[in-house]
Amino acid sequence: MLTAYDYSFAKLMDGVVDIILVGDSLGMVVLGYENTKKVTMDDMTRATQAVARGAKNSLIIGDMPIGSYDTEENALKNAKRLLKAGAHAIKIERKPDIAAHLITQGIEVMGHVGLTPQTVTTFKVQGKDEGSAQALITEAKEMEKAGCFSLVLECIPLDLAKEITRVISIPTIGIGAGMHCDGQVLVTHDMIGLYDAFKPKFVKRYTEVGKVMTNAFKNYAKEVKKRAFPTDKESFH
Ligand code: KIV
Repeated sequence: MLTAYDYSFAKLMDGVVDIILVGDSLGMVVLGYENTKKVTMDDMTRATQAVARGAKNSLIIGDMPIGSYDTEENALKNAKRLLKAGAHAIKIERKPDIAAHLITQGIEVMGHVGLTPQTVTTFKVQGKDEGSAQALITEAKEMEKAGCFSLVLECIPLDLAKEITRVISIPTIGIGAGMHCDGQVLVTHDMIGLYDAFKPKFVKRYTEVGKVMTNAFKNYAKEVKKRAFPTDKESFH
C-alpha cells in the first residue's frame, strides 16, 4: 500500500500497488500543516475524487480525518461521503465500536493502531513496555472482532508486530512495524524524496524526486532568463 492524494500520482501507481490509501498525511505533504489535525472532510473528499479518477485497478481506501468519526452518526455520514467520492473502503484510527457500527452498515473498514497521528502528542515508538504491548495486542484483537478487513500497525517494535500478526487473522499492514507484517505501507512523498521536513527512521527512499524536480526548476529559470527557452521548436508560426 502507498498513499496518493491526486489524479497523477494515483494513475502512476494504479495496479502497481494493491492498495492506494488517500491518507490524511495529505495534511503535511500536500497542505503543509505540521500534523494531520487540521485536515477536513472537504480535503479528504476532494483528494479521494481525484485519486478515483486516476486509479481503476487498485483498491482505494479513504482515510477518515480527525473529528469525522466522533459519533456513530457522523462516522456513517462521513464514511458514505468518501465512498461516494470513489473510495472502496475507509480507514479509521482505533475506535473498534465505531468500526463495528460502520461494518454493520455494510462499509468495509481498515483499522489503524499503534502510533495514531490524530491522537498522539509525541511521535515515538508505541508498545515498548510489557503493559502497553499487551494493550496493543488487545486493541488489535478488538479491531478484528469489530470486523475490520485489515489493520495498519504504525511505529511499534517488530516483535510486537510479529505477535499481533500471529494472533489475529486479518492482514496487518506495517509502517515502522518491521518485516513480519503481512503488508507494508509508506507515505509516497517520503519514499520518493518529495517531502523532507523530517524523515522517520522507518522510511526508505527509493528515489530522490525532490532533487530531480529542483534541478528542473533551476534549469528552466536559468534558460528563461538567458532567453534559451522557448526556442523556435517550442513556438508557433
Ligand atoms: O495518513 C496516512 O498516510 C496514514 C499512513 C501513514 C498509514 O495513515
